Amino acid sequence: MADTPFVITIDGPAASGKSSTARAVALELGLRHGDSGAIYRAITAARIGAGGETSTWTEDSVLDAAARVRVHPIPAGFALTIGATDAGRFIRSPVVTANVSVVAKMPRVRDWVNARMRECARYGGLVVDGRDMGTAVFPDAALKIWLVADATERARRRSVEMLGRVPSADEVADEAAALGARDAKDQEQTQPAADAVHIDTTLLKPDDQAAKIVALATQRRKPG
Ligand code: DC
Repeated sequence: MADTPFVITIDGPAASGKSSTARAVALELGLRHGDSGAIYRAITAARIGAGGETSTWTEDSVLDAAARVRVHPIPAGFALTIGATDAGRFIRSPVVTANVSVVAKMPRVRDWVNARMRECARYGGLVVDGRDMGTAVFPDAALKIWLVADATERARRRSVEMLGRVPSADEVADEAAALGARDAKDQEQTQPAADAVHIDTTLLKPDDQAAKIVALATQRRKPG
């Protein structure tokens, strides 16, 4: 179809560099960036706001919270609001990170997020990142990337991001254990598409991994 938007999916485990890479690729190619993990996080933040222990969260109560989350197109991608408030930094806070896997396991919540991600393609070309963008949401994407990185390197990068300094070996080891636990919880929905291009970013600089994907996208975008 002539008006099918050009979609690149970038999936992979936690802290493999998906969102920063997707943002850079989108900027370079003049496409919008859509971060599906941010939507799961915004729903979790909205559910936290409604109160109650995580163990009492039913799927219906999480869907009620999701109804307060809106995805708004902006030039670079999509902004998220919860009620009248910008979703902001709270969605990256430890309390959201600790509880988001529970929300991401709920099938009707996954359907809700997937529908929002498909709506993002109404606004034109997209670079989307998450766990199942190339499998469940955009199976016909022009380019699918599966990003991986060594577990210790992922933990080192995540520690630098959170602490804003060089982490100690113990801090990296603690973060590697936390990432391992998150990977285990999210494993079911974190699978590469059969036709995904696998890129190991362990030894790559962020600019180089984005450049690699831009080069692949440029090849696929050529007519004929
Ligand atoms: O990538 P992230 O850390 O922002 O993802 C937040 C959570 O949402 C994490 O538990 C994995 C889950 N997730 C998912 O299940 N499917 C997606 N497409 C994106 C994220």
